[in-house]
Amino acid sequence: MAGKQNSPLKLLLLAAENGALPGGKVGGMGDVIRDIPRALAALGHDVSVLVPGYQHFSHLPGATLETVLEVAFRNGSERVELWSLPADPAHPGVRCQVLEHPLLAPCGPGQIYCDDGPGRPFATDASKFALFCAAVATALRDGVLPWPDRVHLHDWHTALVPVLARFEPEFAALDELNFVYTIHNLALQGIRPLRDDDSALEAWFPRMRYDYAFVGDPRYPDCFNPMRAGIRLCHKVHAVSPTYAREIQGDAGEGLAEDLQQAQREGRLEGILNGCEYPQPGSAPVGFDALLAATRAELKRWQQGAAADCVAQAVLKVDRWRRRKRPSTLVTSVGRLTDQKVRLLRLPCPDGRSVLEHLLDRLGHRGLFLMLGSGAPELEAFFAAVSARTDNFVFLRGFSEPLSEKLYAGGDLFLMPSSFEPCGISQMLAMRAGQPCLVHAVGGLADTVRDGVNGFAFSGVDEADQARHLLQRFDQVLALRAAGGANWDRVCEAAAAARFKWTDVARAYQALLYQ
Ligand code: GLC
Repeated sequence: MAGKQNSPLKLLLLAAENGALPGGKVGGMGDVIRDIPRALAALGHDVSVLVPGYQHFSHLPGATLETVLEVAFRNGSERVELWSLPADPAHPGVRCQVLEHPLLAPCGPGQIYCDDGPGRPFATDASKFALFCAAVATALRDGVLPWPDRVHLHDWHTALVPVLARFEPEFAALDELNFVYTIHNLALQGIRPLRDDDSALEAWFPRMRYDYAFVGDPRYPDCFNPMRAGIRLCHKVHAVSPTYAREIQGDAGEGLAEDLQQAQREGRLEGILNGCEYPQPGSAPVGFDALLAATRAELKRWQQGAAADCVAQAVLKVDRWRRRKRPSTLVTSVGRLTDQKVRLLRLPCPDGRSVLEHLLDRLGHRGLFLMLGSGAPELEAFFAAVSARTDNFVFLRGFSEPLSEKLYAGGDLFLMPSSFEPCGISQMLAMRAGQPCLVHAVGGLADTVRDGVNGFAFSGVDEADQARHLLQRFDQVLALRAAGGANWDRVCEAAAAARFKWTDVARAYQALLYQ
């Protein structure tokens, strides 16, 4: 067991999100940054997690100002504060810090990401994370942060740190550091112009002497691509599932397949699946009545907020279902509404109707589909419209952690047809509660759900093919369920028995990323 590679390391984790802090999570990355530090600390490592404060985390109770850094940025200098947050007594060995400055909250306090729209994609966010990275580099150079054995970066937001270490003369000392780079979502790369723009590499760091071969974008020659820089400059590159690590070297490469192939040839690319917590005791089963009551209560809370049309209609539907028998099959879905997650459901079939509507036809009037989620307005509008004209689909536009738990625990079949999925967490949470999933066999979904064993999967060469196979597999799953008996129960039990433990993930990090 003991050996050189397992000796305790000083680890510095940098990310945009940290789900351990209230308001610190937007997507799955927030869960990872909440959970992996604890698992690494439990193996004896000394873990610090550093994220931007967004003028919010530094206002949390118990936050203390450590020091103020003078950070060279653009043509001047910014005073960036380093704050420490109280350690979680349940997880000694995890230090939580934030960097604070007004420019780190350009869209208002607590807003982790800004939406710049298609005209200037990533402009506001890229400038914000550039200052964050410059402040991290300054803190390391000045010894304000202890010198880490590994700096673990997450997604493009943090990828400027190794760029500064390699190419900015004032940070030359940092080039000694050992960098690990995790790709949570290759589709978001944070591409910005090299120059001639307020949010551009040369605008943030006018004196940097960078090598274009490492930081340039292969598709847009005048652009800086931090995702690519992270892949090219870090000692280890980590994709969040083995299948995704393979996919991104090919069709899912988003313009960076060659860089990823090269990382693979150099032995730098690893695919390691994320984990999930397994609290004891696990969640109790949730009956249909209790689920509807919780849904109704949540809808009523939402109704007190703004525009309540769609909510009022959902309440009526829920009330109708409360007077009826439990559906023969309760399909559930929980997640952010992005193209990545739900595009396939919206796809038109040859008859012009959407895949979702075909699915609902098959589900029939004895079945019910409850979907919880919010996100892109055009996707919300689509689901609201289908919900308005069908009886067996209820769209719950919003998010609530407690209600999501009840959907995981109370549903019969969890649907996750993501077009691509680097890892995915919802399928693990549904499985944990004993609910089998029907998933598109890509990325982490392929690595967690075994078709016919602990869940169900479909695939296809293109979207039309995927849609056909989704509907086909759905028919088969409904038939299996209608037949009842041991075959269905076996799948549910296998789903509940599957384990994706963070301790195993931490051991894999230790052996493959930090060795
Ligand atoms: C991104 C991916 C998701 C993954 C998460 C955490 O949100 O889309 O698949 O689970 O990052 O790694």
